[in-house]
Amino acid sequence: MDATGKTHRHGFVPALGYDLLTPLYDTLVAVTLNERAVKQQLVAQARIAPGMTVVDLGCGTGTLVLMIKRAQPAAHVIGVDVDAKILGIARAKLDAAGVDVELREGLVQEVGLAPGSIDRVLTSLVLHHLTSDEKVAALHTLHTALRPGGELHVLDFGPPHNVLMSLVSAPFRFFDGHSRTDDNFSGRMPEIIARAGFRDVAERGHRMTVFGTLVYWSAVA
Ligand SMILES: C[S@@+](CC[C@H](N)C(=O)[O-])C[C@H]1O[C@@H](n2cnc3c(N)ncnc32)[C@H](O)[C@@H]1O
Repeated sequence: MDATGKTHRHGFVPALGYDLLTPLYDTLVAVTLNERAVKQQLVAQARIAPGMTVVDLGCGTGTLVLMIKRAQPAAHVIGVDVDAKILGIARAKLDAAGVDVELREGLVQEVGLAPGSIDRVLTSLVLHHLTSDEKVAALHTLHTALRPGGELHVLDFGPPHNVLMSLVSAPFRFFDGHSRTDDNFSGRMPEIIARAGFRDVAERGHRMTVFGTLVYWSAVA
């Protein structure tokens, strides 16, 4: 961890900014973000078919991989996260649910995803934790791992779409750091996704939350 206590040596920001807060993540997100409905919309958008291989970038406590597997039990689902502590929470949750999901620990560039081996990538509430260069590097790795025509589905913060969303997102941007969240809140996410090699980048919808506007994007490898 660095001197601020917030960024780890290998460059990632823990789910709630500080390791000590990680055990509170599920409760906070469930209460503040209408999590089930918000994530179900992402899963539905991805149209996951039997036999597909699906990666969740920054799977955190495993809520999204669990939903993916329940929506499509015949998919092979891989959760990737750089934080060993949060993967421990995910593993316990998946084991308790009796659900078979592969978890890989590390930056997505390091976990050995073979080129052209993936049909869908989903990622939720992760990219606003990454700098612009880290976003492009992670997405470029996933572009290479996707088969041609495979799809990326992203849920994350976007530009406020009304005055209320501008007001509520201000404290969140301060807490999470302007340098990492600016691409999201300034509307540069489509450009970042395209820079990583994706085509047909499209905004698919948005929702109001207590932290600001959440946006759904899709793109094709
Ligand atoms: C705010 S949490 C989101 C967790 C989950 N996707 C969700 O929607 O609740 C962000 C997660 O991304 C992980 N993360 C951040 N940077 C990462 C990277 N470069 N590679 C893999 N995981 C990363 C963090 O460890 C954390 O678990």
